[in-house]
Amino acid sequence: MSSQPRNVVVFSCLVLLVLLAGGAYGTWNHSQDQDQDSEDAVIMRNMMRSKLMYSQNIVEGLSLGRFDLIEAATDEIIRIGEAHNWIPDTEPELTKIRDEMGLVATRLKAAAEKRNLEGAAVRYFELTLKCIDCHQALRKTDF
Ligand code: HEC
Repeated sequence: MSSQPRNVVVFSCLVLLVLLAGGAYGTWNHSQDQDQDSEDAVIMRNMMRSKLMYSQNIVEGLSLGRFDLIEAATDEIIRIGEAHNWIPDTEPELTKIRDEMGLVATRLKAAAEKRNLEGAAVRYFELTLKCIDCHQALRKTDF
């Protein structure tokens, strides 16, 4: 091997090392940022992102007349709602909205099981109002 290609190899290895180190630093830095959020906040955010996704599945189910999609998504929303034990009893307005959302979700599922498209659509609007209500209440509290 003449010295020129060897230099190219050495140089490429160096570039690769710098890139790897940069990537590793980026990953480390990112996880440092995440550590600043409490674990609960991260879990909560993930639960809410899932809720948003399942709400979209309901819209899809309503639009396509796919009741199976509505039922599956509603089940998940109810399940996530039941995991909402993060709301302290000191926030009665929030616990009330949470419970109401559970009720509306159950009614939405019942409408889907009866293949009642209009009923399901109305319940879906009600459900969305509960999302809005709770977030609006949240902005007013310092919870
Ligand atoms: C009983 C209260 C309550 C209800 C009902 C509720 N949420 Fe939330 N939601 C919260 C709380 C608390 C947070 C976290 C706020 C924060 O600390 O940023 C949140 C945050 C979110 C976020 C932001 C997540 C992020 O990435 O930061 C989304 C999106 C969201 N909720 C969607 C929904 C949807 C969709 C529904 C209805 C299907 C819903 N929520 C119903 C309490 C609620």
